[in-house]
Amino acid sequence: MSDKPRQMTMVAFLQAQNCSNYIGSWRNPATQNDFLTPRYYQRIARTLEDGKFHLAFFDDRLAMPDRYNDDHVASVEAGARVVKMDLIPLLTAMGLATSKLGLGGTYSTTYYQPFHIARVFSTLDHMIGGRAAWNVVTSLNDSEALNFGLEQHPAHDLRYDMADEFMQVVLGHWDTWEDGALIMDKQGRFGDGSKVHRLDHKGEYYKSRGPFTVPRTPQGRPVLIQAGQSGRGKHFAASWGDLIFCAYKNVPMGKANYKALKDEVASLGRDPSSVQICPAVYVIVGETTAIAKEKRAVAEATMRDLDRLALLSEGLNFDFGSKPIDEPFTDAELESISGLQALRDRVVQLKGDVKPSVRDFMEITGRGTLAEHPVFCGTAEQVVDELEEWFSAPVCDGFVLAATTMPGTYEDFVRLVVPELQRRGLYQKEYRGTTLRENLGLPLAQIGDWKR
Ligand SMILES: Cc1cc2nc3c(=O)[nH]c(=O)nc-3n(C[C@H](O)[C@H](O)[C@H](O)COP(=O)(O)O)c2cc1C
Repeated sequence: MSDKPRQMTMVAFLQAQNCSNYIGSWRNPATQNDFLTPRYYQRIARTLEDGKFHLAFFDDRLAMPDRYNDDHVASVEAGARVVKMDLIPLLTAMGLATSKLGLGGTYSTTYYQPFHIARVFSTLDHMIGGRAAWNVVTSLNDSEALNFGLEQHPAHDLRYDMADEFMQVVLGHWDTWEDGALIMDKQGRFGDGSKVHRLDHKGEYYKSRGPFTVPRTPQGRPVLIQAGQSGRGKHFAASWGDLIFCAYKNVPMGKANYKALKDEVASLGRDPSSVQICPAVYVIVGETTAIAKEKRAVAEATMRDLDRLALLSEGLNFDFGSKPIDEPFTDAELESISGLQALRDRVVQLKGDVKPSVRDFMEITGRGTLAEHPVFCGTAEQVVDELEEWFSAPVCDGFVLAATTMPGTYEDFVRLVVPELQRRGLYQKEYRGTTLRENLGLPLAQIGDWKR
């Protein structure tokens, strides 16, 4: 890593709908509706590249939120993140409208095959010149299982055990084309057959023979993102992630978790400075404090209770409509929660001896509301003071910026916050290179460098 002063990594937190992770954002009068066209995504991409963002990142899930009351009608009517288009065409469209911005999408290790994901992301990486990133998730709920031919989502730790082997297969395939394998001598050989290898993987959960069908990519291999929040999830993130996304409530909590995660990375024999940790935050900025507060009030007014219940049910894989709002959960019900276990554990821990109710889950997690992540609201100076405090503590190496209006949040950020960050030397004025690895300050990936 370089000796230059640390600068923040900036990531935009997107959905393939006209909302952010904050459902209410689609209702914001300033949000655009043309999300079924490439225009919408390309406009965001150009804005982010103007603001020297490192990465545009899309969250995903393989089902709409339909666990609440075991039905989808209310979620569809509420626009509760029910549209989820496949991310690869979106990322390609955005990549063709930009030349430096990194582009990342979420694909599940539980519902896809490793060969498929390896092929999709290395193809994308070629098409956009070495700027692709894969957010590795093991997925969350039974609705995803039902869409992919299973009755139930596989158990939490089993998913991660399978995902560890999954990564070996994906990275293994990515390593099977040596540099120089392509010759393309029209009078002679297309490729050097001795430089393309079969993986021949036969493991506990996966078999995949190869040879892989996509040559090595401009950045060696796509960047890997992970965002596990449970103990097992964090271990997985520390094992494989180049970028790790997290949810920290405040500076003291973030500082302790940041250090623990970096220590875990080091204990696995990896260089902690080669792994960047970025918490999700909201930024609402205005030319004056009053304007910023007004924007926040508009954003808060777009929230509905159903958003909260739909997302809690989806994330925790439990129907939050099946219980009266103040009735305590039973031990068996808490045990049955197989989705976001770290979220469940935090609520249970904060309630101490008392069993939490639906209302407790709503209030403590803030899911579906702006309280889910820290909100930095004010003028550019005020917002940058907070970003700087987190970055310098250190709580993080950068941020995953969630939006309250699409694409207005990012336009405001680029116009107002970015110049102030740059003035303080906290943020890049120019991209360092063209590939995402270069721009993140990561070395070109080498064959086998992930094996420890
Ligand atoms: C910024 C951020 C983005 C995330 N994006 C996704 C996502 O796209 N899909 C998903 O299923 N989970 C997403 N998560 C959740 C985690 O990736 C992970 O799946 C979840 O925390 C469950 O794993 P765990 O039990 O280890 O916590 C995200 C978390 C954060 C903090």
